[in-house]
Amino acid sequence: MNLKKNHITEIESIENTEKVNKTLSDSYANLLRGNREWVQTKISADSDYFTNLAKGQNPEVLWIGCSDSRVPANEVTNTNPGEVFVHRNIANVCVHSDMNMLSVLDYAVNVLKVKHVIVAGHYGCGGVAAALSKKQFGLIDNWLRHIKDVYRLHSHELDRITDDGQRLNRLVELNVMEQVYNLCKSTIVQNAWKERADLQIHGWVVDLNTGLVKDQKVSSNGPRNLGYVYELDDVEVIMAH
Ligand code: CO
Repeated sequence: MNLKKNHITEIESIENTEKVNKTLSDSYANLLRGNREWVQTKISADSDYFTNLAKGQNPEVLWIGCSDSRVPANEVTNTNPGEVFVHRNIANVCVHSDMNMLSVLDYAVNVLKVKHVIVAGHYGCGGVAAALSKKQFGLIDNWLRHIKDVYRLHSHELDRITDDGQRLNRLVELNVMEQVYNLCKSTIVQNAWKERADLQIHGWVVDLNTGLVKDQKVSSNGPRNLGYVYELDDVEVIMAH
């Protein structure tokens, strides 16, 4: 089977269909065109690329980042498909009642056995800026409330910063640190640490002005720094009689 030939035939077929559909907007059509260019680039470098990609994934990293379009996990870390498991939401918030985040975290930690979980914020984050303001934005205010709570925890430091941009960026950093702490407090991470020593939780902030990552140096590989109130005993399975 000539994989490359099959791909090209399929691409031509898609292009013919699109010529008929004149209602496609430019930005939408560009996505489909971009997809074909990506496929062609990949298979011209390695004709087995997609055959291998389809076999499965074995990422060692979970990225929990902001939904902002400027901070894509693979591009920022110069990694390939298959290398980073990704969860993104507005302002990279990790809440212990968010079933979506917990499901991703549980799967990444307990099934994929990732070695690194990275909470990745970014300076100038619109979600954090919105949380700093007193404006109402609608439903999202309930999500951003978590960041207002981060502000309250660190108000003694943040209230002293007079420059609005600096205060925003410091809250971005503190938000990342608090979300790392939230992950460490979770039963998923605490139970994993009881089983293995190779799971680390990290906090990063991406500087969009330079593209560079600023490691917040809050990496944890055990529950040592958790307050006693968050410590958990081993899981005991209670059998019903
Ligand atoms: Co953001």
